Amino acid sequence: MIIMNVIVNKEVIMKTINNGTLNIKNVGEVVTLYGWVQKKRDLGGVAFIDLRDRTGIVQLVVRDGSVYEMASSLKNESVLKVVGKVCERESKNMNIPTGEIEIEVEEMELLNTSKDIPFEISDDTTALEDTRLKYRYLDLRRSSLSSKLQTRHKVTMAIRNFLDKEQFIEVETPILCKSTPEGARDYLVPSRVNNGKFYALPQSPQIFKQLLMVGGMEKYFQIAKCFRDEDLRADRQPEFTQVDIEMSFVDQDDVMSLTERLIAHVFKEVKGLDIKLPLRRMKYDDAMENYGSDKPDLRFEMPIKNITEVFKNTEFSVFKNVVDNNGIINCLVVKGQAENYSRKGLDQLTEYVKTYRASGLAYLKIADEVTGSIAKVVSEEELNNLKEVLGLENGDLVLIVADVKKNVVKTSLGALRCKLGRDLGLIKEGQYELLWVTEFPSFEYSEEEGRYMACHHPFTSPLDSDVDKLLTDKGNCYSKAYDIVINGYEAGGGSIRIHKEDVQEKMFRALELTEEDIKEKFGFFVEALKYGTPPHGGLALGLDRLVMLLTGTENIRDVIAFPKTASASCLMSDCPNVVDEKQLKELGISIDKK
Ligand code: AMO
Repeated sequence: MIIMNVIVNKEVIMKTINNGTLNIKNVGEVVTLYGWVQKKRDLGGVAFIDLRDRTGIVQLVVRDGSVYEMASSLKNESVLKVVGKVCERESKNMNIPTGEIEIEVEEMELLNTSKDIPFEISDDTTALEDTRLKYRYLDLRRSSLSSKLQTRHKVTMAIRNFLDKEQFIEVETPILCKSTPEGARDYLVPSRVNNGKFYALPQSPQIFKQLLMVGGMEKYFQIAKCFRDEDLRADRQPEFTQVDIEMSFVDQDDVMSLTERLIAHVFKEVKGLDIKLPLRRMKYDDAMENYGSDKPDLRFEMPIKNITEVFKNTEFSVFKNVVDNNGIINCLVVKGQAENYSRKGLDQLTEYVKTYRASGLAYLKIADEVTGSIAKVVSEEELNNLKEVLGLENGDLVLIVADVKKNVVKTSLGALRCKLGRDLGLIKEGQYELLWVTEFPSFEYSEEEGRYMACHHPFTSPLDSDVDKLLTDKGNCYSKAYDIVINGYEAGGGSIRIHKEDVQEKMFRALELTEEDIKEKFGFFVEALKYGTPPHGGLALGLDRLVMLLTGTENIRDVIAFPKTASASCLMSDCPNVVDEKQLKELGISIDKK
């Protein structure tokens, strides 16, 4: 007990208050502060120092004497301990929280010096991201980054507290394991003891969490590191974190209700925002039909409209060819924007949809006299029909994609819709739109593999009504899978699992896995299903994405302390790197230098 007191007292002596929390109410107090020199102004005889800790900046004033001498020789990012009195400032700076006060320094101790820094530690730094990633530990000193990590901490604390209250237990699952079937490539780890054999890093704890249900845990969660060797994008990292959840004796509504209450709790704790529950639900097919995406951004409307019917007897050869070949013609109506898009602007939009494999973008500018790329080939009747079906008014811009491939039409217009939403400022700052997308197809056809693949993963239960379609009608088999979508991001996804061995085997067969494949990859799992597996289901939230959304950044690296680049490397530690011949030899590995 006495020792505890000493430690407590020592801490109090160490730092009496955080820099960023000082304000006018502290005037008159003598405080002990620690931090880094952000900036120094020496006016000859008096020096002003901005002292930064992770909570913010406070201004120090140093006058005369030996303390001034030390202060005037300080370099930026030196580490200081100061004791001083909080005083009201003569000229206040209302732009910063501590701007009404300053510290009259009485004692100053230089705890460490710093080399010249490669970039200024400031929120509006112009340093390149590569430089900042190389010196990530310096970048983390910037409040815009450190505040995001502090938010991340708040999010994980809120999640842990909520799930603990709901009687979930946190269980750690292995990192060195057998390949998990999430569809990306595995990161492999060679085994020295079992020469020639490899572990896979988990793409998710999927199999283990299901085995925990077989093991009777009933309510599991884990804030779990996952590893996927896949093409990286602004919202993807090779190493990322999931809030992984699994529950026994539940159906879809139970998992979705628990998850949305969890999300609402996090939004309230972290942002003070009330999320209206229950969340809106949209079937996958409807999301694709109306928004061209399985993660629609509902912060603005502008749905995709199907106008194939209008052109069913068209003379215009491009559309006729599409209609004759069972294709579709869809469009977006951009209200009141006809005059704001020049030929050049429309060419840019055309190039944009082409990156989504559309062959082109036709357009009409609605006015008393309609103009546009297809104005001359559209008949008066078609134009009148269009006006009626779409409720067109003068000034509207109609952007049309036609193709025999339905998914090309939908995904290209879906992407264009999001681009227009951003470009035209249709999205309000700080707005959040959450929804569930449900009833995903069980399978998607992979051109590359020449076979049907699991849309989610092979443990996802088909809808009760579709179990028989597993082997007979894969293209029309839908599943008990659901994604939670926030502002156009897939923030999480999950499903009710197959808990019956015979259905699981059917699923494996549907995926054209051979007996050997099943035995080799999932034998232990299929065996476990035989021992009284409870009905169960769950989901995983992408923690990094959730924190991105809560902190308003579009760059996943901003919410990860030590992220990887788009080529999956770490610029700071220079990994991955070449290893010793000796190490390779021990592992029985030789590198094909070609
Ligand atoms: P899924 O593969 O949909 O499901 O992943 C769940 C969530 O994890 C996030 N996520 C990622 N975040 C950052 N970088 C990545 N490379 C990355 N990949 C995925 C997304 C996604 O919604 N085992 C299942 C879950 C389940 O069925 O319970 C799974 O992993 O936000």
